[in-house]
Amino acid sequence: MSDTQASKLKVEEPLVPIFVMGKRYEIPASLTIQKALEYAGYQLVRGVGCRGGICGACGTVYRVPGDHSIKVGLACQTVVERDMRIAVIPFFPVNRKVYNIRDVHPGPEIFAQFYPEIMRCMGCNTCTKSCPMDINTMEYISAAIRGDIEKAANLSFDCVMCGLCTARCPGELAQYHIGILARRVYGRYIAPKATHVREMVGRVMQGRYEDGLRRLMATPIEELKPIYTKREIEPELSKDEWAPKSAENL
Ligand code: SF4
Ligand code: SF4
Ligand code: FES
Repeated sequence: MSDTQASKLKVEEPLVPIFVMGKRYEIPASLTIQKALEYAGYQLVRGVGCRGGICGACGTVYRVPGDHSIKVGLACQTVVERDMRIAVIPFFPVNRKVYNIRDVHPGPEIFAQFYPEIMRCMGCNTCTKSCPMDINTMEYISAAIRGDIEKAANLSFDCVMCGLCTARCPGELAQYHIGILARRVYGRYIAPKATHVREMVGRVMQGRYEDGLRRLMATPIEELKPIYTKREIEPELSKDEWAPKSAENL
């Protein structure tokens, strides 16, 4: 018996009808769209990745009865509704500018230089309303139009590049490529440098951890397990100055 058949037998909750690209299926009401597709027998090879709302692979368009508006969401995060009509759009075509971040000039003109269509934005806010990550997409596009790299980078930080805003933009912008351009330029040229990372890389390059790594690699797995389970873990929400009790491996 397949996993899908076994899971169907265990289902005791009410089923609701949904329509996947026009075809009707009866689905347990608590499933996400992604799980509903698998329950219905689809094998997902595109339009699926992390299953946790992070990778942006599962952009989905749907409508529900009694509502004229097109709705969008991530299939792995959106629970099915009775009679919803669904189409998963795992890829929406856009033109991506190819550049070497080391060679760009990090000035305010960079967005119009690489993506001149940004000036076609008419401020309709459809992108913001389409965003499953609750990002103020129009606001980061506005910041990019003004050449405010830092603001565009910060406002677009949670973008998962699902493309749902792009699919609906009447100005035909590729917002998420504009956002990642902002974050790359900001990270490379504007953000304060992380000195502790540079120091740590220096220690690694000087061989500070070579002996410890060799010892670990030579240790049998049964001896490694208690070392791993007893290791000191940094508490959640610890203060910046937190450090482990032993400085042996710092
Ligand atoms: S959907 Fe497009 S045109 Fe409308 S505000 Fe967003 S970027 Fe501008
Ligand atoms: S800004 Fe656009 S691409 Fe990024 S998460 Fe929101 S809808 Fe998806
Ligand atoms: S599968 Fe990664 S966001 Fe849905």
